[in-house]
Amino acid sequence: MNILVTGGAGYIGSITCVQLIAAGYRPVILDSLVNGKVAVLDRIEQISGQRPVFIEADVRDRARVVQVLREHAIDAVIHFAGLKAVGESVAQPVRYYDNNVQGSLVLIDAMREVGVKTLVFSSSATVYAETQDMPLHEGSPIGATSPYGRSKWMVEQILGDVAASDPSWSMTALRYFNPVGAHPSGLMGEDPQGIPNNLMPFIAQVAVGRRPSLRIFGRDYPTPDGTGVRDYIHVMDLADGHLAALRYAHGRAGHHVFNLGSGQGLSVLDMLAAFGQACGQTLPHEFAPRRAGDLAAFWADPALAEKVLGWRVQRSLQAMCTDTWHWQSNNPKGYDA
Ligand code: NAD
Ligand code: WQD
Repeated sequence: MNILVTGGAGYIGSITCVQLIAAGYRPVILDSLVNGKVAVLDRIEQISGQRPVFIEADVRDRARVVQVLREHAIDAVIHFAGLKAVGESVAQPVRYYDNNVQGSLVLIDAMREVGVKTLVFSSSATVYAETQDMPLHEGSPIGATSPYGRSKWMVEQILGDVAASDPSWSMTALRYFNPVGAHPSGLMGEDPQGIPNNLMPFIAQVAVGRRPSLRIFGRDYPTPDGTGVRDYIHVMDLADGHLAALRYAHGRAGHHVFNLGSGQGLSVLDMLAAFGQACGQTLPHEFAPRRAGDLAAFWADPALAEKVLGWRVQRSLQAMCTDTWHWQSNNPKGYDA
């Protein structure tokens, strides 16, 4: 099967391409490179022995997307392309809605024209409303608090409406919790631009000496150690979740929604200690005030994905840290080194 992977030059998309190739699929990457790296193509080839076709294009370029769907006889689409920085989305809402919502609309319309009817979409746990009622399941209340989160929820609703309008569509939204980790080869991983917003890449840059110390945002949350609790999922498990979703959804019409998480909550201090073990250092850190907009604790109920897709996480916290450290220490400056 030929799979169009939008955003396939990014962190999760590129590693999913490796797993797609290993499973016998042929990924075709379309990426604007707004946050992706062409170097991933060499790394994918190094790991899998196959170099995916790469098209540098914006998913909002309808004519180009139609052409790619036709030329490469695409059977299904995994749609990773999107902007993902929560803070930036608050400052630049129009840019976020245009890229994430308009981008998805253009893609769906191009698919309709060509008759490609299977779409797997990168959604996020950030669509859920704030609640103390854990774990979050697919029916938990929705209430995204940022333009980024709302853009994901808008697209999920569009997928539902399109699936309801025409029974030949198969639309799947995957709500990722907190993706971390790297390919175990150490050749591919997360390579954020500038100062990392997220915990794991920040810790990894402290470990490699690029940042002096981790600032822990908040120590007085109502959690066992007072620091924020999240559901971290190894990016390899996340990639495998896409394969499971693709196998399930292709040829099965309707609108499907699944959490992809581990089901386990871990604190900032848990993550710091595990990473310290993986890299053999005590990592410098200091406590700082809570970060605006942060929730105390949330984690997934991943039971639906296990029941329906036959998927659940396989990789441990230790693997998340060891693989990140392997990637970061081999590529201290990321793909540009
Ligand atoms: P990433 O930024 O590394 O990858 C996204 C890729 O999409 C980049 O390569 C970027 O160049 C490309 N892109 C963006 N807009 C585009 C456009 N209009 N046309 C073509 N290409 C475009 O991010 P990631 O962490 O790999 O995330 C992938 C997807 O998963 C995103 O949609 C993100 O919102 C979603 N997601 C990520 C996380 C996370 O914590 N990383 C959590 C939940 C959901
Ligand atoms: C995790 C914990 C922080 C950095 C974000 C998005 C979400 C999703 C994943 C896309 C929190 C703490 C962090 C630091 C810290 N992305 N922390 N010091 O906030 O759960 O989710 O990324 O969909 O939409 O909001 O992840 O990694 O930023 O934070 O103490 O330097 O680490 O306060 O408790 P978050 P994160």
